[in-house]
Amino acid sequence: MSVTITTRPAIPGGDAHQSSQYEGFFSLAARSMRSSDIRDMFALTEAGDIISFAGGFPTPDVFPAEKAAALMAKVAATRPQAALQYGPTEGIGELRAAVADLMGQRGVPATPGEILLTAGSQQALDLVARTFADPLAPVLVELPGYVGGLNAIAANRGRLIGCPTDQDGIIPAGVSEIIERLRSQGEQPRFLYVIPNFNNPAGTLLPQERREALVEIARRYNLLIVEDDAYGELYYDRRPPLPLRALAPERVIYLGSFSKVFFPGLRVGWINGPEPLLRKLAVAKQAADLCSSTFGQYVVLEWLREGNWQQHTSWLRGIYRHRRDLMWEALRHFFPADARYSVPAGGFFFWVTVPDLPCSTRELLPQALAHGVAYVAGTGFCVDGGGQQSLRLSFSQVEEAKITEGIRRLGEFLAGVRERPPKG
Ligand SMILES: Cc1ncc(COP(=O)(O)O)c(C=O)c1O
Repeated sequence: MSVTITTRPAIPGGDAHQSSQYEGFFSLAARSMRSSDIRDMFALTEAGDIISFAGGFPTPDVFPAEKAAALMAKVAATRPQAALQYGPTEGIGELRAAVADLMGQRGVPATPGEILLTAGSQQALDLVARTFADPLAPVLVELPGYVGGLNAIAANRGRLIGCPTDQDGIIPAGVSEIIERLRSQGEQPRFLYVIPNFNNPAGTLLPQERREALVEIARRYNLLIVEDDAYGELYYDRRPPLPLRALAPERVIYLGSFSKVFFPGLRVGWINGPEPLLRKLAVAKQAADLCSSTFGQYVVLEWLREGNWQQHTSWLRGIYRHRRDLMWEALRHFFPADARYSVPAGGFFFWVTVPDLPCSTRELLPQALAHGVAYVAGTGFCVDGGGQQSLRLSFSQVEEAKITEGIRRLGEFLAGVRERPPKG
């Protein structure tokens, strides 16, 4: 297989929102930071009758409001001194132990000392980037890759190098080819950032054989792997294969989150990895926030202790599976017949590629908004400038009644621009 090494510069031309008057005040690292297309989109889609497939939030319909209120009251009443106080940087011991048990249920034996609790897995991504990336040193990411992860690495000035993927996720042979090529230039990637389960944005699920091949490559080339598993519990057919961390615990750092299975307002996630690495990550966390929300950690702890969180997750799977099916059905019906996508077996996203568009999906976005529908353009996910004909559609947050209508609007719009390309 022939693979070209494609990179995004650590210091891009600058953010359109930055005012030149203040440019000189910014650190080099701040100049590397880019606003996420997805965040920018929220402001646009709040107006008018727009059906937005842009945001990948959980649907608020499933937020357990009464349960949350009861758990919060319980925590405040029974543990006010600990729950309202600053906590340890690593997180409260009882939740670290409970998360270690949870990792065991996911096939990864873990001790509480191998768990670092974070403010969502987004903070984990930032800590990982601060701890393992170096200015301009290569970091391997997927094409397409998760914007939050890419931005965390770029903000810490890592040089993003895209690895090829297909409908089954990252291609191990492509990864080893890139590593070989880097090595021939005297470089070693700092780590590989990968989302094996229900990738954001690609929706792909990495098969068992590829997981084994990937950790084999990591061992051969002494590579650290950062495995982001925000969606692993949201499987719609069957449980995903074992995490990479189960296959190579000595070199995989696993990121988990309660955002999608409980609720994201809590901001509770975790890192599970080798203790020596966790100790350094904890030092990075001391500089970032000293400790994440103690109160939120106790709420999660009480929720896990009630013992029926699996039932809740199974209920969520049913709801999201139904939305996935509605979007799939609508795509079959309303999208151009040559549109390419694979059906996600979990998570929140369809990644759709529509050939022969007159311009990129990013350029088409304002007109799509005028047609009452929003998506995230593919280019923001692709560090090689690819994704021009692709878009990410999230079904998680859109009311069931609107999914079909939104896909109808978008399908007709895309078919229309292929027939009548926009002027100028
Ligand atoms: C792949 C992936 N990783 C990490 C996150 C961050 O999640 P949180 O910080 O809420 O745990 C998200 C959120 O959408 C995500 O999609």
